[in-house]
Amino acid sequence: MGEVVEAGSLEGIASTTMKKLHKAGLVTLESIAVTPPREIVELTGMGADTAMKVSALARLKVDPGFVSATEMLEMRSHMRRCRTGSNELDRILGGGVETGVITELIGEFGSGKTQICYTLSVLAQMPVEEGGLGGRVCVIDTESTFLPERIVQIAEARGYDSREVLSNILIARAYNSEHQIILIKNLPQVCQEHDVKLVIVDSMIGHFRGEYIGRGTLAERQQKLGNALGNLLRVAEAFNLAVVLTNQVQAKPDTAYGDPNKPAGGHVMAHACTHRMYLRRGRANTRLAQIIDSPYLPEVKVRIAITPAGITDEDGGLPAMGDEDEVKPRDEE
Ligand code: GTP
Ligand code: MG
Repeated sequence: MGEVVEAGSLEGIASTTMKKLHKAGLVTLESIAVTPPREIVELTGMGADTAMKVSALARLKVDPGFVSATEMLEMRSHMRRCRTGSNELDRILGGGVETGVITELIGEFGSGKTQICYTLSVLAQMPVEEGGLGGRVCVIDTESTFLPERIVQIAEARGYDSREVLSNILIARAYNSEHQIILIKNLPQVCQEHDVKLVIVDSMIGHFRGEYIGRGTLAERQQKLGNALGNLLRVAEAFNLAVVLTNQVQAKPDTAYGDPNKPAGGHVMAHACTHRMYLRRGRANTRLAQIIDSPYLPEVKVRIAITPAGITDEDGGLPAMGDEDEVKPRDEE
């Protein structure tokens, strides 16, 4: 998390203005930089000109524009990875879910997207030395499928104190796409106040698909979706946190052979998400996971399992559903 900015550290900005920013919870350069000026006005009541000036100065300090590749490498050295619960899945992700970018989980119903989100919400809060991100988790749930009981089950199966795990997960239900957009806009403040290291939106696209029906509204839908994804990406970068989104598949009308499904959300979604993982049902409690369209990860397929402990390797050593009474906490690697 960024350092708190004091009056004077933003040159030319009056201390009364700094006080207004602080009162609105905008206490770090990062949070000021990622909050659009219009919202700064709404939050603080300051004039639009002042908000523009504050925003521009903060952005300049946080992101000087072009940087040398050496600096870029230095910045990337702060990148962290969160383990997923499956070593195989971690392996194809290059070590786990990356901070600073968006990772997208794509698949049809029951393919395990939400189960991966559950498992990540437990593991992300573990210390960095244990493969976590050492911070809190913020979940935007658009389908009302994110249940605390499953968190408790996963935490306990892994030998963690479930009460503590639950207390580190913030859940917001988004009732429609506008509400979802507002929740995403508020993320800079939430992430800063609660030291969030993982943001989940499950599902990113559901409300949009449900509400914008027909050709005429597609452009508007894609624009709103694109803006929301832009906000998420800025939060990922500014706070060096991981963003995980779920996405559904839609049928490709003219598929003669191969997989008849493609990810929803079109190019807007494809461009915003750095890593895309495609999930399919496998035999029994297993699922097949494959990275698609990645700039540098290989597109290999691995098999994972959904167990009482959430996501594990296929031979994760934990019984499948049905044998749940015999669950024993697994020793962590
Ligand atoms: P949609 O949200 O409908 O698009 O699907 P999804 O991809 O989010 O599916 P989800 O992650 O909810 O996966 C559901 C699957 O997980 C079901 O097939 C369940 O059988 C399985 N599952 C859910 N809870 C448990 C559990 O506690 N133990 C085990 N072993 N499996 C579970
Ligand atoms: Mg789901």
